[in-house]
Amino acid sequence: MQFAQNKSLKAYNTFGIDVKAKRFVSIGSEEELEQILRKTYASELFVLGGGSNMLLTKDLDKTVAHIDLKGKQVLETEENSVLVSAKAGENWHEFVLWCLENGFGGVENLSLIPGNVGTAPIQNIGAYGVELKDVFVECKALNIQTLQTKTFSKEDCRFGYRDSVFKNELKNQFIITEVIFRLTTKNHQLHTSYGAIQHQLELVRIVNPTIRDISNAVVKIRQEKLPDPNKIGNSGSFFKNPIVPKSEFEQIQKKHPEIPFYALPDGRVKIPAGWLIDQAGFKGFRDGDAGVHKNQALVLVNHGNATGTEILSLAEKIREKIADSYGVMLEFEVNVF
Ligand code: EPU
Repeated sequence: MQFAQNKSLKAYNTFGIDVKAKRFVSIGSEEELEQILRKTYASELFVLGGGSNMLLTKDLDKTVAHIDLKGKQVLETEENSVLVSAKAGENWHEFVLWCLENGFGGVENLSLIPGNVGTAPIQNIGAYGVELKDVFVECKALNIQTLQTKTFSKEDCRFGYRDSVFKNELKNQFIITEVIFRLTTKNHQLHTSYGAIQHQLELVRIVNPTIRDISNAVVKIRQEKLPDPNKIGNSGSFFKNPIVPKSEFEQIQKKHPEIPFYALPDGRVKIPAGWLIDQAGFKGFRDGDAGVHKNQALVLVNHGNATGTEILSLAEKIREKIADSYGVMLEFEVNVF
């Protein structure tokens, strides 16, 4: 294992924030992971995956362990499906492409989501009507304290909207090393009801889409709406879409009849935070290098050399404005350190 001192993390977080790690090490195997955990107190360790859902606001006075476990394989083949395993350090979109090349369906709607396989379950990544939980079977994770590997079933993970047990009760207690998926090989269940996908398929005149067609449509939509982290630093949606009781929503709707919304099965209502932020006049707003994306107000961006603190103050400013204007408190989707 090669340790680096005072290493810049700019290339390791998709926001492109230039903070330093006191010590940095890339972990290429489960054995190396165990070794580093034996040597380092849990409180001294900072686990880094794809760096796609975090905002770093200060230098990390810790050992940063970059999870770089690689490998993907078919574990079992059944009549209509396969069981597939991918290690935590695999890039998520490369995994999706590998599935498409092999004709495995289920993750095509999740194309082009930044980040790694190992961090996908933590926030139950989702897009265009599909969430990770829909294809998830189980994951293996190492307990930071006991160094025991535990297998988490779907139920154990308690997936919710951009949420799981790894963000709550078990926060910072486990490191996911491998994820196992059930994917289809025949009779793929296509999810095309999302308006933007239908529209994109119509544009290219595809009536009976394949999983590859859906992936292409999703890639096109994302490229149009969302900034490419390789060009403009960002962490995708910075805020979660707020979920409010029906009565509260009706109050807001009285004042803003045009508000888009999504009624949840439990009676509550999900409101697009992007719409609220857009209406509040922040779309395309820029303060120095910290800004709000011009095509999707839910995404905060680093135009070059913004600090994490500058992005965070912009996020706080937006949060205050939305609370004042709509009485809704936005929650961060991104983890702030
Ligand atoms: N809207 C605006 N202005 C904006 C952005 C959105 O008016 O600047 C309106 C849209 O017109 C639409 C509604 O808000 O009526 C919803 O917008 P969109 O379909 O773009 O989806 P979203 O709710 O803003 C969520 C996810 C995205 C995911 C898309 C598509 C969250 C926090 N975000 O965004 O996920 O790609 O749906 O499924 O749930 C991510 O998590 O990083 C992410 C990009």
